[in-house]
Amino acid sequence: MNENIRIVQNKKQGGALTSLDTLNEKTAEKVQRWHSSFDIYQETPLAHLTNTAKELGLGDLYVKDESYRFGLNAFKVLGSSFAIGNYIAGLLGEEIDKLPFARLISQKVHDQVGELTFVTATDGNHGRGLAWTASRLRQHAIVYMPKGSSQERLDNILAEGADASITDMNYDETVRLAKSKAERENDILVQDTAWNGYEKIPAWIMQGYLTMAYEAYRQLKEQRPTHIFLQAGVGSMAGAVTGFFASLFEKEKPVITIVEPHKANCIFRTAEANDGKLHVVKGDMDTIMAGLACGEPNPAGWNVLRDYADYFISCPDSAAAKGMRILGNPAKGDTRVISGESGAAAFGCVAQIMQGRDEIREMLNLGSSSKVLCFSTEGNTDRERYREIVWNGAYSDNQ
Ligand SMILES: Cc1ncc(COP(=O)(O)O)c(C=O)c1O
Repeated sequence: MNENIRIVQNKKQGGALTSLDTLNEKTAEKVQRWHSSFDIYQETPLAHLTNTAKELGLGDLYVKDESYRFGLNAFKVLGSSFAIGNYIAGLLGEEIDKLPFARLISQKVHDQVGELTFVTATDGNHGRGLAWTASRLRQHAIVYMPKGSSQERLDNILAEGADASITDMNYDETVRLAKSKAERENDILVQDTAWNGYEKIPAWIMQGYLTMAYEAYRQLKEQRPTHIFLQAGVGSMAGAVTGFFASLFEKEKPVITIVEPHKANCIFRTAEANDGKLHVVKGDMDTIMAGLACGEPNPAGWNVLRDYADYFISCPDSAAAKGMRILGNPAKGDTRVISGESGAAAFGCVAQIMQGRDEIREMLNLGSSSKVLCFSTEGNTDRERYREIVWNGAYSDNQ
């Protein structure tokens, strides 16, 4: 139901715009070149869902399928690997371009940098990517997860050899726990969000995500999407992808809409208030979209969204569930995309809007001549929940 979706238009007025120099095509090309040095690297597919687009009343629809990323079922490893690569390049006094994957994981580099411990807080996907990178480097990873995290996501992190555990705190409190642990032990905090005085690593993480955006842009060839929908937790991914496409299409920029769950809509609230302050959500943030259950925006991501995004949506869990079901069962002839709760959120809102009342469609100018691009940022990272939703219809509109 459209009634359940809330939308605000970006009300930014004038002022200097945030520089996109670190998120532009040149940077993205460099980051993608670095990721392509990984032995496991393959670009993830861009599903072209022409028939589904028609059935929804859209001109065209593309969904980037990150369930194929490095066998890890989510895009997140792009950020942590690029951050760790840059950190180690810094220790060696070199540029990241000179440190392709084979050299990064070599014994020689290990001997040069010694034993390192990387610490983070995560709902699952970022921690798995970090643990995967640390294990390739034969280094240590310590991963804290917020209360309510799924056992399967924890098991996947443990399987990469990390020291991982579920805390009794929410995401933002867990981030503070990871931060104090890293400070106390002199470990390296690799967090996918920034704050005053902690900016370098999160900036590399945002740049790491550019590989996903750059691949999609190349796969689209000459096509320019008219609309891009991006889901946000702290807004690092959405900020990076928004910055990239805004720098590419200075003229005729696609309409960019940011999507969050009602229960963790910190970016939506910040945009709605439009008072120059970041607005936070506290408490348990009880949503099925675990990857988006973050209550404090990344200021660096927000600056980009404030300047270049067009609309902000807050949505119910049923929107993500709808997105999972449609992507898993698209119109005949279209490629199926296995998409998890956070991965399907933005597309789920597109579907909900197309099936709902006219207002939001008209506001977004979304219709039969629109070419929509979404990013399915994870696959079925919690398989039990995936079956509950896609097979058994949990979290449908009328529940
Ligand atoms: C699958 C998935 N999609 C999207 C996001 C949102 O990314 P960000 O926190 O950078 O907004 C996350 C974050 O963990 C995620 O796991």
